[in-house]
Amino acid sequence: MKGFLIGLIVGLLLVPIGAVFYFHFGHPPVAVADPSFPMEQQVVHVPLNARIDAEAPKNAPIEPSPVNLQAGALIYRQQCAACHGLYPTASSFGGSMYPDAPQLWSPHGHGVVGVSDDPPGETFWKVDNGIRLTGMPSFRKILNPTQEWQVSLLLANADKPLPSDTLYLLQQPLYAQVTPPSSGSASATPAATTEGAK
Ligand code: HEC
Repeated sequence: MKGFLIGLIVGLLLVPIGAVFYFHFGHPPVAVADPSFPMEQQVVHVPLNARIDAEAPKNAPIEPSPVNLQAGALIYRQQCAACHGLYPTASSFGGSMYPDAPQLWSPHGHGVVGVSDDPPGETFWKVDNGIRLTGMPSFRKILNPTQEWQVSLLLANADKPLPSDTLYLLQQPLYAQVTPPSSGSASATPAATTEGAK
């Protein structure tokens, strides 16, 4: 019995000690370019989906009217397109994130475009809360709930014909072509080329 207890205690101690060694010396994946952990997708997505199922609002409080879709497209350009791409141009760096930022105007089988197969309440939850340990921000302090619904309804309708003014907004290039002022301080301000930064 005594031997069993000692074995049990040593066994229990080995687990945290092993974990400390692994984190220090085992080179766990930390770079975007590293391969994923076994079951990493499941570990992250199972609890995320359970939380969304429990909390996502079932009905949108506003309609996908032309006015709301156009407002959604303006918000999308300013807050989302840098990572999630435009119609039909992909983000330059969204695919180089880990996890990557899905391109929300890309068709991907069965007529689905981006997250058009997700209920708008699910997208609203993701926009409002963000997705932890990914590049997906929480927009709760950046957009008001109506704006979050407008962009969520836009994405839910990405597979349907959109009003032409909304489509126009999604088709214009994100970055304005600017030339540096002739004073010679050309390289210091790359931020000057971005549009709509808050
Ligand atoms: C800084 C980059 C970044 C910005 C800006 C950003 N996102 Fe994301 N977003 C991500 C990443 C990365 C993921 C992938 C998260 C994951 O795999 O769990 C993601 C995931 C999502 C998803 C889930 C996609 C899926 O396939 O289930 C939706 C919907 C979404 N974002 C919408 C938005 C909207 C709407 C905005 C703007 C209001 C926005 N995002 C702004 C990086 C970004």
